[in-house]
Formats: sequence, C-alpha cells, structure tokens
Amino acid sequence: MKALVKEKAEPGLWLADVPEPETGPGEVLIQVERTGICGTDLHIRAWDGWAQQAVSAPLVVGHEFTGEVVETGRDVTGIKPGDRVSGEGHLVCGTCRNCLAGRRHLCRATVGLGVGRDGAFAQYVALPAENVWVHRTPVDPDIAAIFDPFGNAVHTALSFPLVGEDVLITGAGPIGLMAVAVARHAGARNVVVTDVSEERLELARTVGASLALNVSGASIADGQRALGLREGFDVGLEMSGNPVALRDMLANMTHGGKIAMLGLPAEEFAVDWARIVTSMITLKGIYGREMFETWYAMSVLLEGGLDLAPVITGRYGYRDHEAAFADAARGRGGKVILDWTA
Ligand SMILES: NC(=O)c1ccc[n+]([C@@H]2O[C@H](COP(=O)([O-])OP(=O)(O)OC[C@H]3O[C@@H](n4cnc5c(N)ncnc54)[C@H](O)[C@@H]3O)[C@@H](O)[C@H]2O)c1
Ligand SMILES: [Zn+2]
Ligand SMILES: [Zn+2]
Repeated sequence: MKALVKEKAEPGLWLADVPEPETGPGEVLIQVERTGICGTDLHIRAWDGWAQQAVSAPLVVGHEFTGEVVETGRDVTGIKPGDRVSGEGHLVCGTCRNCLAGRRHLCRATVGLGVGRDGAFAQYVALPAENVWVHRTPVDPDIAAIFDPFGNAVHTALSFPLVGEDVLITGAGPIGLMAVAVARHAGARNVVVTDVSEERLELARTVGASLALNVSGASIADGQRALGLREGFDVGLEMSGNPVALRDMLANMTHGGKIAMLGLPAEEFAVDWARIVTSMITLKGIYGREMFETWYAMSVLLEGGLDLAPVITGRYGYRDHEAAFADAARGRGGKVILDWTA
C-alpha cells in the first residue's frame, strides 16, 4: 500500500510502498479515506528537536483520519466491516491507576499513533478496537477526518461552563477556530479570539467570533473596551502555545476566572504568579480528548448543527502531499485535508 513515511532521520516525508498492517486480535483494519495534517506532522517532517527525540525512523506518520472498516480481528465486537469510523490517536496502557479507573485520557504511558507507532497517512491503518469511534449518524468525511483536533477544541472549550460567559481564546489556528465555533454554539456571550494572522482572524469571524483581534496592532484590553467588558474575561482558552498570549490572557481575566490551556509552549517561561494567586485564577492543562466523553460530545454537537465547514481550507490528493504540507506549514489558513481515495 501507499503511505507517507519518515524513512530517514532527516527532514522530509516520502511516499512509499509499504506492507499493509496486520490485523491482530482485538484490532480493526481501516481503509483510510481522508486525513488531516497536524502541527505534529509538520514537526516530524521538519525533523526538529522534538521530532528527533520522539520519533524513530522508519515510521508511517499521521493520526487524524477517517475511513471504512474492512476487517475486524479476533475478539472484536460492536464494530463491523462497512462502518465509517475515526480514530482516537492516543493508545493507552490499560494497566496504570488512571486506566484501571476508566480515566484513560490520564494514562501515564500513552503512545501516539503516527508518532510512537505506524500511523494513518496510508491506504490502511490498524487500530485497537477500543480506539475506534464509529459514526452512528452521517458525517461529512472531511469533518470526520479531523475529529482528533476537533476533540482537542471540544475538550478544552467544555472544560468550564460557558453559558452566558465572556470567553477569550488566544490563537486562531485550526483548533482555536473550532473552539470559537464550539464556544459560540455552547452559549457564550462574547467570544473574543486573538491571533497575528489576518487570514485566520477572518476565518474566526466566519465561525462566529464576537471580536477577532490582531494582537500585533491592538491589545486585549482594547478588545475589552470595544465590547464594554468591565471586569475581564470569565473563561480563557489558550490555544497558541505562545508565552506572550498566556501573559496577556492572565492580565485580562476576571477574579476567579478559569483558564484551560491546550497550547504547548516550546520551553519554560515566567508568568505573574502573584496575579494568579490573588485573583484566584484556575489553570487547567488539557491533553488530547476524554475517552470517549469528548467523542460523544463532538458527534452530538455536529448533530445539533455545529458547523465546522469554514475551518477546512485546503484539500489535496495524497500524491500532492508536498503542496498540502506547504499549505499547512504557512500557518495562516485553516485545516488541510489529504484524500487517500483519489
Ligand atoms: N495539548 C494537546 O493535546 C494538544 C493537541 C494538539 C495541539 N496542541 C497545541 O495547541 C495549539 C493550537 O494548535 P493548532 O494546530 O491550532 O496550532 P497553530 O500553531 O496552527 O495555531 C496557533 C496560532 O497561534 C497564533 N499566535 C501566535 N502568537 C500569538 C499570540 N501572542 N497571541 C495570539 N495568537 C498567537 C499563531 O499565529 C497561530 O495562528 C498549539 O500550541 C499546539 O501545539 C496541543
Ligand atoms: Zn493532530
Ligand atoms: Zn495507562
């Protein structure tokens, strides 16, 4: 089968012929239809410091996908050939304290699909049945392909009650954009989103931001004034990984405000801890998706009319992976999809 492979420990990805994966006991074989390109894939392609310590070549990359089940291994129940599925890319150990307690998203030994084991940028992928999410209601294949980052957005956005609240989202990348749509749908009063890319801020307006603020020319405090906020934001969703964004967010929260942090900073940095303490701010780290409460929420949000279509801005056949990766690496558009059936 065709697959996008990290063949050598150097920058690049190569479209190669590799053997189809075996379907072991408890596993499901999926014919991949669409995949989403993620920041993680860009890191692995660029072969930066993180990728060099996290990945060993050769590796089939990719973790955001949808496809159709073609085979189920021994002991698999409840999933059958023909089912349309997406995949939870965090494979958990099943034996640590949190796994045993059913809190699999808190597993201490998570292995990432397309990072620690062969992934989904391929014509077929094999996955443990407990990582497979079956779409019980029809869903657009492009949207089904991005359930993984959509889940990051939902997990973060629904960490704290949003109804009637003023929400600040820093970073209008694909995940920030989806968080805007979710926060709006979930009943927030104002949803303010910041970025430094006008193109992404324009997308944010399309998905329902009350105010999309370019922080290269305006401050979050200006945004508060424009909307008539007097005491700051109730909920913050940090989705840029930029230290400046978190500092600005902290400075613009109400007392008792709550911050969910998804953005992954590249290194340690200082923040105003005295402000966090005296304003009694709650900070919560978010990793991945809750299995499978977040997945349930995603499916029913879409059924309830949540529209993510504007978030997808690039579509390519898998043979055009170079152009697709270049589009994603611009860091200014929305989500980029690869089609594996074309
Ligand atoms: N915790 C997890 O499980 C998890 C999973 C996926 C992604 N992530 C992280 O979440 C973040 C969002 O993911 P993404 O794919 O949307 O990333 P992205 O890099 O495409 O988007 C980040 C955006 O932040 C913007 N930005 C930079 N500086 C800013 C500032 N000072 N203020 C406001 N915005 C600023 C950038 O212009 C960019 O548009 C990234 O940091 C990513 O590493 C975390
Ligand atoms: Zn991803
Ligand atoms: Zn575990």
